[in-house]
Amino acid sequence: MTLIPGDGIGPEVTLAAQRAVDATGVKIDWRRCELNEETILRKNEVLPPEILASLNRTKVGLKGPVTTPIAGGFPSVNVALRKALDLFANVRPVHTLKGVKTRYQDVAIDLIIFRENTEDLYAGLEHEVVPDVVESLKIITRKASLRIAEYAFRYARANGRRRVTAVHKANIMKLSDGLFVRCARETALQYPDIEYKELIVDNASMQLVMRPEKFDCLLMPNLYGDIVSDLTAGLVGGLGIVPGANVGEHHAVFEAVHGSAPDIAGQGIANPTAVMLSAVMMLRHLGEREAADRMHDAITQVYQDGKHLPGDVGGTASTAEFTNAVIRLIQA
Ligand code: NAI
Repeated sequence: MTLIPGDGIGPEVTLAAQRAVDATGVKIDWRRCELNEETILRKNEVLPPEILASLNRTKVGLKGPVTTPIAGGFPSVNVALRKALDLFANVRPVHTLKGVKTRYQDVAIDLIIFRENTEDLYAGLEHEVVPDVVESLKIITRKASLRIAEYAFRYARANGRRRVTAVHKANIMKLSDGLFVRCARETALQYPDIEYKELIVDNASMQLVMRPEKFDCLLMPNLYGDIVSDLTAGLVGGLGIVPGANVGEHHAVFEAVHGSAPDIAGQGIANPTAVMLSAVMMLRHLGEREAADRMHDAITQVYQDGKHLPGDVGGTASTAEFTNAVIRLIQA
């Protein structure tokens, strides 16, 4: 397994997830690869070949967040990695976690975001046309739109989900988002058992805040998927608890939705739940169902007990105290 701790809170939360996975008894040979702001600047390389070589060997990775400088500096490692390995499907399950106080105490939120992960405005094609005028290209292709739509519908059918909602802005971007929506409609025809709906992204954002319990599977191009993921994380208690997977034909890299959280890095207080739940998704991907269930149940039990909750969800436990509580239950 390739383990990329990343930077900021990354090393703290990935260590917690690694300890919990090891506690399940599944034997994993962790290949640790350093990829963070410091190594990127030192090597002057966003994605060193040894990282790709490791992922090409192991096929599966668990990754912490990596910092990307804002308005300048090197390009995003995360985007580069997803493109290099063609990790086209970003899957982000967002569930109510019993024991976490939210504004939505009385409803059960259970939705999954399927974010196209390789193109859109994240293609990184930007240039200055003339001074003070820049152009960013939004790339949408039939191939990428069809495969993420197909992934979402197939997942919905295999996992007993009832509805896929395509989220877009095709009323304005008639060609690019228009193509994305047409591909979703075309795919929907092959899945008559799954209800298909469409929502314009601004309306979708309002409805998610008003009635999040009504949503099931959400299919989106890259940018909306990125933004709406954080919005939906906010509905269930924040970024500390929402996991994710980047899946391609040949590789899968599991990582939380959150970033490197520089505001709390190094303090030992980050919530490792999101990376732990990403590791649970990883164990399922590896076919280790029993270990995945045991780790998942231990995490949810710690929340229900409410004695060892991290600060972002209203508790006072450190990263290590929360992790130890999870491990005790895994081994019980
Ligand atoms: P962020 O997700 O790092 O933090 C947003 C807020 O949520 C902060 O207040 C932070 O303390 C809190 N938070 C996030 N994760 C938490 C956790 N596990 N436990 C407790 N609190 C948590 O977003 P921000 O600040 O916008 O980005 C920081 C850096 O992370 C940027 O350089 C950004 O590019 C990078 N980033 C990397 C990602 C990745 O590697 N996949 C994804 C998102 C952002």
